[in-house]
Order: sequence, then structure tokens, then C-alpha cells
Amino acid sequence: MTMTRISVALAAAGLMGATLAQAGEVEVLHWWTSGGEAKAVAELKASMQAKGHTWKDFAVAGGAGDAAMTVLKSRVVSGNAPAAAQIKGPSIQEWAREGVLANMDDVAKANKWDELLPKAIADGLKYQGHYVAAPVNVHRVNWVWANPEAFKKAGAKLPTTWDEFFTAAEALKKAGIIPVAHGGQNWQDFTTFESVALGIGGADFYKKALVQLDAASMKSPTMEKVLTTFKKVKTYTDKNAPGRDWNLATAMVIKGEAGMQLMGDWAKGEFLAAGKVPGKDFACVPAPGSAKSYTYNVDSFALFKLKDPANQKAQQDLATAIMSPEFQEVFNLNKGSIPVRLGMKLDKFDECAKTSAADFVSSSKAGTLVPSIAHGMAVPSASEGALKDVVSQFWNDDKMTVATAMDKMAAAAKSKAH
Ligand code: GAL
Repeated sequence: MTMTRISVALAAAGLMGATLAQAGEVEVLHWWTSGGEAKAVAELKASMQAKGHTWKDFAVAGGAGDAAMTVLKSRVVSGNAPAAAQIKGPSIQEWAREGVLANMDDVAKANKWDELLPKAIADGLKYQGHYVAAPVNVHRVNWVWANPEAFKKAGAKLPTTWDEFFTAAEALKKAGIIPVAHGGQNWQDFTTFESVALGIGGADFYKKALVQLDAASMKSPTMEKVLTTFKKVKTYTDKNAPGRDWNLATAMVIKGEAGMQLMGDWAKGEFLAAGKVPGKDFACVPAPGSAKSYTYNVDSFALFKLKDPANQKAQQDLATAIMSPEFQEVFNLNKGSIPVRLGMKLDKFDECAKTSAADFVSSSKAGTLVPSIAHGMAVPSASEGALKDVVSQFWNDDKMTVATAMDKMAAAAKSKAH
């Protein structure tokens, strides 16, 4: 009896010892603080805690992560990097060049990332051939979110072209509904701008003007039309848009105060968190003219070099968890995005997600899959910032002409793109 008790105690102690030796802390920088975002990141926290690790939440509020990136820079400069930070697109390369990111090849190899990720996405997560970041999802940016009740009240129909968009906006306005819910940060302006550019100019124009930053395309009749259309959208927003957060704009559509919002599918996370049902309480339609194209935004976590072995282990467990099928499913069900891991069943996902997944594949085949500039997927952060500034100046300053805006855009691209 005594022996048994002792061995049970020893076994328990041994087990505890092992857990303690392995348990580390993961500090994770992110900006997921809205309703849907917070629910999604809670799933990551839970999966780390289930492995016995301590989750240190490093949340910096602010859509699209502008504030988060500023805080991250000062932390890394002072030699106190978190284990992981929400960093994506070309910024991953910029951070890797600083020599501060950790090599995740062991995790990637053990879990077959090369086979489970689309090659173009995997390449973006590697620096000099080595994985330095783990991806969580694919967001589609070129969507319109609409309130069917509001549309019914206005006798309007969901738009597929920009002409139809303005017809619907006019009808909503007449019915006393704010046609377009919009917010006040420059990334929100650019989210709208890039959807207009894609819908009016098509994927080839989008790539040439906004990804390759071709000066002639920036000062072209197509860009003129894009800017004119973009500015017309503003006339259907309300006076309180400046300074408003994106999720509060989504809330206006949820409540029926506004008819529609041009936003990526993290907006769906807000509808779902509010208990709304897709296809019934809200509708998702591709941004006008862009149904056959797809603006992608892949969220990923870059992993920073750490000294403590237990924390390194926790960091590797985090990277492993992020790419696991269980996490990819539950996270994306909450986030509004689709799994980035290939070959996942989408049975539990709604029609918006299924459309997104099908369009991701078909646009990739057709060459109309394009990276989002607004969400840091396309151009170096310096060019992105300069372009966003010009587009927002144009949006906010009713005296700025289209010609001036085009000149400024071309200058912004030229002075920063190398
Ligand atoms: C995006 C990010 C999304 C979503 C959005 C609003 O840049 O990729 O995951 O969080 O910002 O915060």
C-alpha cells in the first residue's frame, strides 16, 4: 500500500517536474481587441494554456496594427522582444533583416508546412529560405457587408457594379439610412480605395499601379476614374466618420443605422460575435466589380529570438499550435477568415467563408489574386505609409483635385520604392 502510494506520489512528482521544466511563457503582441478578434485570439491563448504554458497578453488596440507596430519597435530596440508578434507581408522580411527573428525550420519540418501552405504564402514567411513566421489565416479584403433589412426598407438591391452601388446608396439615403459606414483611420480609407481600384481598374491595373508602383499607371485615366469614384463614396458616409474605429462602423451596419461597409472579412467576426446569422441578418458580397478578383491579407506571427530554453519551447509550441488543423478551424470560425492550411474541411464554415475559399483558388488560377496594400501585404512599409497618407489627404481634403492626388501618389511611390 505504502509503496503504491509512494510510487503514485513519485510518478505525480515526476510528471509535475517534467511539466514544470517544459512550461514556459509566451508573450504575444497583437491588436485583436474588437469583439470578434478577441474571441479568435482567446482560442490561441487557450491552446497554449492547455499545453501548460503561461500566456502573456500584449494587446495594443487599434485596427490594422499601426499602434501595435510602434510599440513593438520600441520593445525590440530596448532588447525586450516578445515571443511572437503579429507581423505580416514584406514587414516580415524587414524584421528578419534586423537579425531579431528566430529560425522555425524544425517546427515547420516536423509539421510539414511546405506541403500544407500555398507556395507563395510560405515564401513570404521565410527569410533566406528559413521560416521565421507562422500564418493563421487568409482574410479577403474586397467585400461589402450589408444589412438586408435596411436594403429592404430602402427598396435597394445588393450592388455588383459601382453604378449599382451608388444607386443603392442613393436609395438608402432617401430612406433615412446612412448608406456607407466608414471610420477614421488612413487604413480604412485605403481599404475602400483599393477595393475601388480593383473593381474599376481590374487586377492587372491594381498590380501595375499599386503593387509595382508604376508611375504611368498612377497618373492614368483609369486612376482618375478610381479616385473620382472613391471620393464619391465619401459623399455617402456620415459626418461622424472621422476618428471612428472600424468595428464601430460595422456595429452601425449590424444595427441597421447604416446600410453597408466596405471592409475585410474580420467584419464578419463582429456580426458573428453579435449573434448575427450570415445570409439572414447580414449579407456579404464582393466589392463592386471585383467578384472575380481577390485581395488577400494573411495574418501571421513572427517569432523573435529568445534566450530562455523553456520560453523557446513555449514559442515552438505556439508555432505548432497555430498551424494545427484544430486551431485553424476554431480560430477562423471566430475571426471571419478562412484557414491558410491547405486541405481543410470547411463543413462548419458559412457561405461567406466558402465563397472566399472558392474565389481564393479560382482567382489564384486566373491571376487575379492580389495582395492588400492597406493591410501590409504588398509593398515595403515606407511606400505603404506614403501612399496611405496621400489617399487619406485626398479623402479628407475636399479642395484637393484628382490631378494633384495623382501627382502626389506618383511622387510618394517614386521617392520610396527601391
Ligand atoms: C487587419 C488584420 C485583421 C484585422 C484588421 C482590423 O490588418 O489583418 O486580422 O484584425 O486589421 O484590426
